[in-house]
Amino acid sequence: MTDIQALFERIAPLYDRLNDQLSFGLHHVWKQMAVDWLQLPAGATALDLCCGTGDLTCMLARRVGRQGWVVGLDFAAAPLAIARQRSDHYPQIEWLQGDALAVPFGDQTFQGITIGYGLRNVADIPQALKEMFRLLVPAGRAVILDFSHPQTPALQQFQQWYLQQWVVPTARQYGLAAEYDYLWPSIQAFPTPPTLRELIQQAGFESVKHYPLLGGLMAITVAQK
Ligand SMILES: C[S@@+](CC[C@H](N)C(=O)[O-])C[C@H]1O[C@@H](n2cnc3c(N)ncnc32)[C@H](O)[C@@H]1O
Repeated sequence: MTDIQALFERIAPLYDRLNDQLSFGLHHVWKQMAVDWLQLPAGATALDLCCGTGDLTCMLARRVGRQGWVVGLDFAAAPLAIARQRSDHYPQIEWLQGDALAVPFGDQTFQGITIGYGLRNVADIPQALKEMFRLLVPAGRAVILDFSHPQTPALQQFQQWYLQQWVVPTARQYGLAAEYDYLWPSIQAFPTPPTLRELIQQAGFESVKHYPLLGGLMAITVAQK
């Protein structure tokens, strides 16, 4: 088991509560935006990579309806167990424990792919992007939602303050300070928007659109095959 997998196994029971508290509920809005930008029709096929506890997956399921088919894939068992519990009303969802770097479906299986706060955590970003490209139908879209690199020095300072003075102390109340300490370095190591665009293009995608949220604290990137 990798360190990242072990980390998400540990934080799974508190993950949703902390997400709500740490983003003031805004992560629901950003996830809905990610789903909307896929522009999937009812009945479509969709994949939510690194689905965690599955809230984004359920939004995809609402979008495509019962005629559609949605796969939520994550390599950690604990978040997937929570995801399964919340999806009683969505028979169109299939939960799968697996690796985003080697997804067990054939080429061109999905019309849309989401990856929320996941790409930053995978061991090989170019490989994850190649998998997304392979799995999409021609002209299919992938939407990446994650932390990003703020556009001004003031916002960069705010992001560092927010992560170190708000996120980690809040996580400490639940005994998870060390687990949330990794966020700041992981965001620093995550590709900047121009580098991410380049990586997405190198994976084969035809077009890339980058939408900063809150001055670039977060971003949604839409890649079209
Ligand atoms: C920060 S959570 C995001 C969960 C959910 N998408 C959300 O937005 O709330 C990142 C997830 O990525 C998963 N993950 C990281 N690397 C992975 C990989 N190579 N394959 C599958 N899942 C992976 C972790 O297990 C974790 O559940």
